[in-house]
Amino acid sequence: MPIKVNLASSDPLSLAVDVLVIGVPEGASTGEGVLARLVEALGESVAHQVKRDDFTGKKDQSVDFTTRGALKPGRVLLLGLGSGKLTDVDVRLVAAKGARFANGVRAESVAVVVPPGVERAERSAAEGLVLGSYRFTRYFTGDRVPKFGLARGTVVVEGKAGKAARDAVALGQQVGEAICVARDLVNEPPNEMHPEALARVAAEVGKQHGLKVTVFDKAALNKRGMKLIMAVGQGSAREPRLVHMSYAPPGKPKGKLVFVGKGLTFDSGGLCIKPAPGMEEMKGDMGGAANVIALMAAVAAAKPSVEVHGIIGAAENMPDGAAYRPGDIFGSLDGKTVEIINTDAEGRLVLADCLAYARGLKPDLIVDNATLTGACVVALGPTVSGFFSNREDLADRLRGAAKAAGESMWQLPLVDELRDGLKSDWADIKHTADRWGGAITAALFLREFVGDVPWAHVDIAGPSMASKPYGIFSKGGTGHGVLTFLRLVEGFTG
Ligand code: BES
Ligand code: MN
Ligand code: ZN
Repeated sequence: MPIKVNLASSDPLSLAVDVLVIGVPEGASTGEGVLARLVEALGESVAHQVKRDDFTGKKDQSVDFTTRGALKPGRVLLLGLGSGKLTDVDVRLVAAKGARFANGVRAESVAVVVPPGVERAERSAAEGLVLGSYRFTRYFTGDRVPKFGLARGTVVVEGKAGKAARDAVALGQQVGEAICVARDLVNEPPNEMHPEALARVAAEVGKQHGLKVTVFDKAALNKRGMKLIMAVGQGSAREPRLVHMSYAPPGKPKGKLVFVGKGLTFDSGGLCIKPAPGMEEMKGDMGGAANVIALMAAVAAAKPSVEVHGIIGAAENMPDGAAYRPGDIFGSLDGKTVEIINTDAEGRLVLADCLAYARGLKPDLIVDNATLTGACVVALGPTVSGFFSNREDLADRLRGAAKAAGESMWQLPLVDELRDGLKSDWADIKHTADRWGGAITAALFLREFVGDVPWAHVDIAGPSMASKPYGIFSKGGTGHGVLTFLRLVEGFTG
């Protein structure tokens, strides 16, 4: 069961919780504020420990005490907030770190104190508690089944806890849980999470949240002429799917936004097979699709006044007698013919048909996200997404949304000189160019399928999965991107 978060406005030191988490601004002394109260209640040992650990409230510093019955909370965790102006991003981070700590000491309840005067703090704190308490233990049996789990979270505010704050906590819980759906989908093994299963989850999530969902199976994909999705999926025993989810606001929509996700439930590379080491990570090659499903659930909870569509292209890339080959030429939903060069560059083919479909919805903008290229990870490292856009104002919006959401995204250029590399002798276009600028040429290929619709492409190949927990993110699937896209949606005013 996921953690259930509620709101309280009582004195934090009088809360009966296993772990109490308090953010401490830089420079706080044991002579005043909450530190002074802790020293008073728990004795000089607290002051000693603070001193010994050199805890002065700098960012990333932490110190914890057990209270041995001298206070209601069983343990207190102090986290440094640093000295800058506090934002909801800091609050989310403190809550997530606190919940992760609480999980680690087998706590069942955790409370986090929200600093006063921070906009959206209650919602962020709830998001952080849910994100930090996330674990994926579905496939453990016997001794490995966890005996403890965080069941209760409390967001503690100063002053009175009114309806607005309660609603904010409830929304934060829903947003956090939506992101955990994306994490689950990435962490699920590829024998279970195949294209049909992914489409089924999208349909279930849609049903739960009152969204419209249409699933295109193999026959429907063929009928529509989505030849590139079909090509990528033709070597797999599991048939591909395209899923279209949509949310309509209560009143007249202030715009129409489409989000597209790459949903390769496993990417072996196909006939151009990948090397064995690390191939298991390619179960996460549907991180973009998982994000879209999560985003749609979060949008349904946040109820923005824009129409939002989610498109996922789901397929499995396998080597087989029926697999697509280098040299093959396929048509596409858009109409262009594509020469296949490397069957491991499958994601852009699936996305091309999804983008052509998205364009047909006549949206104000399209944002796709995909674990698209190793080159993007080489360029930016494993914690930063690269993004591209055919409109500078959209790039600015996306940059702003990422900053406000606390996710790391960096713009990369659509270098027109590299477009030549996609020229084919035998078809309209080929889908890969040479090695250099691999993230860029992938984006240039996608650009061919969006026409003149404002479009951004986010390459999440690095941060979609994590080899260890960091910030608000868990090991394995992270859901990196969802908070940014949600900000973009919530901030869209036409
Ligand atoms: N899914 C991979 C990209 C990837 C790599 C995601 C590492 C996450 C971590 C993608 O389908 C792929 O194989 N891309 C190739 C493209 C190349 C063949 C042009 C790559 O990046 O090597
Ligand atoms: Mn690939
Ligand atoms: Zn792939």
